[in-house]
Amino acid sequence: MDKNTIIEKIDQLRKERNALILAHNYVAAEIQEIADFCGDSLELSIKAAAAKAQTLVVCGVRFMAETAKILSPDATVIMVRSDAGCPMADMVDPDELKAYKSANPDTLLIAYVNTTAEVKALVDICCTSGNAEKIVSSIPADRKIMFLPDRNLGANLINKLNRPMELWHGCCPVHDAVTVEMINDMRKKYPASQILVHPECRPEVVNAADQALSTGAMLNYVTASTHNEFTVGTESGILFRMMQANPDKTFHLLQPEILCTDMKKLTLADVERALRTNQDEVMLPAEMIKEAGAAIRKMLDVK
Ligand code: 13P
Ligand code: SF4
Repeated sequence: MDKNTIIEKIDQLRKERNALILAHNYVAAEIQEIADFCGDSLELSIKAAAAKAQTLVVCGVRFMAETAKILSPDATVIMVRSDAGCPMADMVDPDELKAYKSANPDTLLIAYVNTTAEVKALVDICCTSGNAEKIVSSIPADRKIMFLPDRNLGANLINKLNRPMELWHGCCPVHDAVTVEMINDMRKKYPASQILVHPECRPEVVNAADQALSTGAMLNYVTASTHNEFTVGTESGILFRMMQANPDKTFHLLQPEILCTDMKKLTLADVERALRTNQDEVMLPAEMIKEAGAAIRKMLDVK
């Protein structure tokens, strides 16, 4: 099938099924182009929570589809590729977390939204990279915190907020591979360029960059900035909307190899197949939806 035929079929199925197509900023441009809404993890969660659609098609990785199901349990939530996971989300073994909880009953657990539904059901509150500072700051200063799973995001929060926290032993392999040398090289090559990285990068990388922002905040920053040139240290999928919204600005990728192989598994043909077959519908136990939903809603309620 050629691209236009696939898009026609998607449009027809989207109408027939009263479906809303949500896409993360990292998926392929051809998917972002046809999505009803593109955003970062926080923006996708807010959209899923407010959705009136019968069917939600989540173009992203498993934890994003699970979050949509938890927030919109009556909708049919479909993953585009059931094999698109997040290695960082898999770095929390629920049994290890249960053992930690039993040994540390007074510690408050904050889970980055990049976790499985099973893990979310075990924690007190969630956060995303778009609201992590606000969530951590909302916890009384005398309360012990365990932040999981991302040791880099956690360390960056400790540095920024001067707030001690215990950190889980997880990270995003894509962002953990970004180095200070990459930043120094690009500064030499493009001295006028603002360097933006994701807070999942190591603290020394965040310190060497000009800004560390969630993907949604990066898009807003670039659009509002008086700077004209940017070097982007996150997954290349972000460039599609950045360049579209800012045709007069210049963009460089910090490294073209910063690729999330899971996000990049999704194709337009997969979106059509998912809508047509319902093959990868997200199903979660009611109790898990209730408990994980409490942690996500607590996050959404923090003002
Ligand atoms: P954002 O919430 O910033 O889009 O990040 C999601 C993610 O998986 C980054 O690796
Ligand atoms: Fe997970 Fe990293 Fe991919 Fe984001 S970029 S989905 S954190 S592996």
